[in-house]
Amino acid sequence: MELSILTVCYLIGSLTFIIGLKMLSNPATARKGNLIAAAGMTIAIIGTIFLYEENEKKLGNYLWIFGGIIVGGVIGTLAAKKVKMTAMPEMVSLFNGMGGACAALISIVEFNHLYSAIEIPGYDQMPFGTLLIILLGLIIGSISFSGSIIAWGKLNGSVKDFSFNGQHIFNLVILAVVVVLAGLILGGEFGDPQLIFFSILGLSLLYGVFFVMPIGGADMPVVISLLNSFTGVAAACGGFLYDNKVMLTGGILVGAAGILLTVLMCKAMNRSLKNVLIGSFGGARTTGVVAKEQGHYKEISLSDTAVIMSYASKVMIVPGYGLAVAQAQHACHELEKILEGKGVNVKYAIHPVAGRMPGHMNVLLAEADVNYEKLQEMEQANEEFSTTDVVLVLGANDVVNPAAKSDPASPIYGMPILDVELAKNIIVNKRSMKPGYAGIENDLFFRPKTSMLFGDAKKVIQDLIAEIKNL
Ligand code: TAP
Repeated sequence: MELSILTVCYLIGSLTFIIGLKMLSNPATARKGNLIAAAGMTIAIIGTIFLYEENEKKLGNYLWIFGGIIVGGVIGTLAAKKVKMTAMPEMVSLFNGMGGACAALISIVEFNHLYSAIEIPGYDQMPFGTLLIILLGLIIGSISFSGSIIAWGKLNGSVKDFSFNGQHIFNLVILAVVVVLAGLILGGEFGDPQLIFFSILGLSLLYGVFFVMPIGGADMPVVISLLNSFTGVAAACGGFLYDNKVMLTGGILVGAAGILLTVLMCKAMNRSLKNVLIGSFGGARTTGVVAKEQGHYKEISLSDTAVIMSYASKVMIVPGYGLAVAQAQHACHELEKILEGKGVNVKYAIHPVAGRMPGHMNVLLAEADVNYEKLQEMEQANEEFSTTDVVLVLGANDVVNPAAKSDPASPIYGMPILDVELAKNIIVNKRSMKPGYAGIENDLFFRPKTSMLFGDAKKVIQDLIAEIKNL
């Protein structure tokens, strides 16, 4: 009876996880989807704690279990409440690393169980299937753990990019040694299985460090998504080991979602995963850039911007990474409301990789209560630019760079962009003429229809609002 209730708990956990993931794909339902999935997982966890039985024995250890849940819950809640939007990839990376560490710990515990079993007469061989899953969980989980910690350090600036000649070969050698050692244990050819097992652990941790170390800091979101997928697969190994359906479903979904997201991010940036992992784009970005002779750009004053926007009939705002840095989302929403009060039709054009993480702009604008129906996806927006009077680019750069269409030598050539040039006027707000993430100049800033409005996005929007109010 209890087993069947537990099975129902797992079914609820798996279903809500799938439903929650589906709801996350739309800004209108994302928040609810997250809560639904979390509620389902809570049911599955509580069910496991109180209903799971092995040899007619319940789990027990409630002090340890609830102590861990409370400590982890408090730390997680505080961290999530405190984190700045721009530091979100960092936090995801750290949490992901913890998932990888848990998967590796499960493998260590279960290996010890098997190891103590082989000392009992008659058990001279560890079961191949179980051992294979344990080793997979150990290797993938520990790579994910150490890699995520390095990614976290890189994003918060405490770890610097580091590489040496032949590093990729060195990495491949470590990986090959890990595979050979795992093969030795699996083949039963072990001298001291514990020594080999913990050598695999050490080398996998080392591999995670060297795998992420040379990758450019700005490429971290793609790598984090890949490591996230690793953690999912490692957790699924735990699900296999314990024959736990919800852990298996959750792990597989996270693994699949992580790899899909990685591929989508690479596609939206027009780069191959190989290029992200071993290329240097996004690494020492600005140093290698050869400044092209670009001619002149023209500046626009706040008062002229206020006039041109107030008398427009349609304005499209293009948010980018700079908007997140300036935390200008609330000011931006206020600007939108004031313009709408003057009869201007205001919309937002969202590029899939604007910002530094998937959905960055959507989350940022949702935080400021911008109506999600005002957010136009790239294809939609591109159809609307030709009927737009003013495009206001706020801290975006690469996602509006025409070189992606016209310059085959550009690292972003082929990346789909927002065709802001189709609009009648383009006003670009940023603090300087410095390049963005890709480290390349942007021809758009020098085009006849473009005017530059320099300054921090939040301050500029606040001043612009004041000017519009004074008109
Ligand atoms: P970027 O090309 O990085 O440009 C952002 C611009 O914002 C910079 O040129 C910067 O110029 C300006 N800026 C910075 N702080 C500002 C502030 N306080 N006020 C006003 N402007 C400010 O950003 P984007 O157009 O959003 O493109 C995103 C890039 O990130 C793409 O290349 C994309 O491939 C990459 N990327 C995205 C993702 C995801 S999933 N979103 C993942 C990995 C990589 P100044 O310094 O002159 O102010």
